[in-house]
Amino acid sequence: MIKFREILGQKVAVMCKKAKQVQQLVEPLKLDIHGVNNQIQSDVGATGRLVNSSIHIQGDNNELIFEKGVWLRDARFHIESNNNRIHIARNCKFRGRVFMKVNGNNRLSIGPETGVGNVDIICGEGSRVSIGADCMLAFDIEIRTTDSHAIIDCTSGERVNPASDVIIGDHVWVAAHCTLLKGSHVRANSIVAIRSLVTGPIDEENVLIAGVPGRIIRRGVTWERPLMG
Ligand SMILES: CC(C)(COP(=O)(O)OP(=O)(O)OC[C@H]1O[C@@H](n2cnc3c(N)ncnc32)[C@H](O)[C@@H]1OP(=O)(O)O)[C@@H](O)C(=O)NCCC(=O)NCCS
Repeated sequence: MIKFREILGQKVAVMCKKAKQVQQLVEPLKLDIHGVNNQIQSDVGATGRLVNSSIHIQGDNNELIFEKGVWLRDARFHIESNNNRIHIARNCKFRGRVFMKVNGNNRLSIGPETGVGNVDIICGEGSRVSIGADCMLAFDIEIRTTDSHAIIDCTSGERVNPASDVIIGDHVWVAAHCTLLKGSHVRANSIVAIRSLVTGPIDEENVLIAGVPGRIIRRGVTWERPLMG
């Protein structure tokens, strides 16, 4: 059942049965929303948590969806453009900041059961960040689809650094202090080693990527989540 509440003139959709639950689910999110037709769907339910998290929107037609069991902790969503969509699927744990500024039509999707320790996601120029299911992203990670500023070829006058999507497949482990730049593609079951810098597509699954720039240093590997030390 979907209920819509008016908060600061926006429709905030909350899927649950009782008005009391609606309060519990929405109020922990600090909302600062300006514009029209922005929608937040929060269905985190009894197993979800919304702790010290906020949504700032200056724009129109933006949509944020948090599915059942989602934990947001110290999460900040800064949207200053139109027609953006953020979808965090069931049982994800997310700590970090998401920026969608200047140009709209950006997309962020995070698949079910993924855990994000602390990440900055800068998604702009109408691009997409897609993080698969059952991934583990550690802390101090930066993911960006845009360089934020243009580099121009002096001869042609053309921009040489357009934005490009970042795609992380299912069951990928990104270790601490990594950066994934525009066009990065890390395929399923892979590992990105600590302090690595991924700058483009890595076209194989089940690989260990390491270094600056990141290169495949091991093939035929996968990883497991239980804490070993
Ligand atoms: C990914 C990781 C687990 C790989 O460990 P491993 O399989 O034992 O790899 P090794 O240490 O044997 O290293 C294999 C090679 O890669 C190199 N390498 C390993 N990590 C590297 C890194 N981050 N950057 C560059 N090179 C690296 C090693 O120097 C070695 O090179 P060589 O074969 O020329 O000697 C490890 O590199 C790592 O990132 N650990 C930190 C995990 C973390 O951040 N945990 C936080 C909680 S999520």
